[in-house]
Amino acid sequence: MKYFKYKGKNLFCEKKRVLDICKNIETPFYLYSYNSIVNNFSKLKKALKGINAIIAFSVKANSNLSILKTLAKCGAGADIVSMGELKKALEAGIPNNKIVYSGVGKSKEEMAFALENKIEQFNVESLEELYTLSSIAKKKNNLAKIALRINPDIIAGGHPKISTGKKTDKFGISINDAHKIYDLAKNLKNIKVVGVDIHIGSQILKILPFKRAFKKVLSFSNDLEKKGHNIKNIDIGGGIGVNYSNDKDIDSFLYEYVDLIKNTFIKSNKTIILEPGRYLLANCGILVTKVLFKKYSENKNFLILDAGMNNLMRPALYDAKHIIKPLIKEVQTNDCLDYEVVGPICETADILSKESHLAKNISQGDYLFIDKVGAYGSAMSSCYNSKDLASEILVKDEKFYEIKKRIKTEDLTKFESIAPWLRKN
Ligand SMILES: Cc1ncc(COP(=O)(O)O)c(C=O)c1O
Repeated sequence: MKYFKYKGKNLFCEKKRVLDICKNIETPFYLYSYNSIVNNFSKLKKALKGINAIIAFSVKANSNLSILKTLAKCGAGADIVSMGELKKALEAGIPNNKIVYSGVGKSKEEMAFALENKIEQFNVESLEELYTLSSIAKKKNNLAKIALRINPDIIAGGHPKISTGKKTDKFGISINDAHKIYDLAKNLKNIKVVGVDIHIGSQILKILPFKRAFKKVLSFSNDLEKKGHNIKNIDIGGGIGVNYSNDKDIDSFLYEYVDLIKNTFIKSNKTIILEPGRYLLANCGILVTKVLFKKYSENKNFLILDAGMNNLMRPALYDAKHIIKPLIKEVQTNDCLDYEVVGPICETADILSKESHLAKNISQGDYLFIDKVGAYGSAMSSCYNSKDLASEILVKDEKFYEIKKRIKTEDLTKFESIAPWLRKN
């Protein structure tokens, strides 16, 4: 089932014509399909049937409250990396016993807040973090349930900047060191070892890196149990890739991934925690934008949009390629040009697509959309160049609702003030 598709010349999100939303909402804006999120989640849940699993959505991929609420209603847990994400996950109704806390740099305040809220597991990434957590838990007379994130030294991920499981990456603890730290953790007051954790990277579309990582984590977990640790959870992280280059269905990869989970862990009797972000959200959102100008220079056709790297960082940061299409399909599609599609930001890196094949007669004011930006889209956006933050819209069937209002420069300057010595003219 496709949730964004053309009917005649017009793009629809579910049963809503996107052009009708443009009449009410200023571009650029993010547009999500509610039913596509529910569908992605239930596909994964169904595939995992038979194993004891928590699907802990990686909140960093999209932390909008309505999105989190949608996933909470589906039965999702959350993988959080900050107190802000934890507050949002709890507000959305995600139960604390399905929340795991990842990240190399948790502050004391953040740890204390997570302890008060009795989350399922802290994924600890260093010895200092463990000591700090233990002392905070002691002060609060609380118990911190922990796993160590191990670094399996595996190369994976679609881009070096989203690889997290190599030994040179800042993430995790080597297996050798982890052995020692687990033994030490056992004797730390207010610390309870409950699991092991890995996350090797993102946008992974090959099964082999997962296979190697899962094998390592299982064998490590078995070794820990032999030494008397009680391992209840195996957290295998996120990383399932999506097909950004066309609309071909790659569900077969999802099923291969789930089969690997089952084959590896079914006999272990552990709770398997998954932390998918991109898989659940990427194809559920688009970024709707408008053409500001066209310009021909140095043998290139530039298309300048009102959306830029401030709205969508992925192309500039990760060389990510997203398909850009018109909201209203051109009849004469054979009369096209190759455009370099750029944003309005004063940075050379503000390129949304190096080569997009779009109609020759495209012109100022025409609407376009950038596909598959539901994950790591709005969540990574900024107000760079003092641009507004784009609004976010959720569609369900023929209904739509503004789930995040546009944040304007005036809203943000409220938090700025002129230093007293600058006030006198
Ligand atoms: C610890 C951790 N878990 C889960 C994820 C989600 O990854 P993905 O969106 O590729 O599933 C990330 C993102 O990189 C992460 O750092």
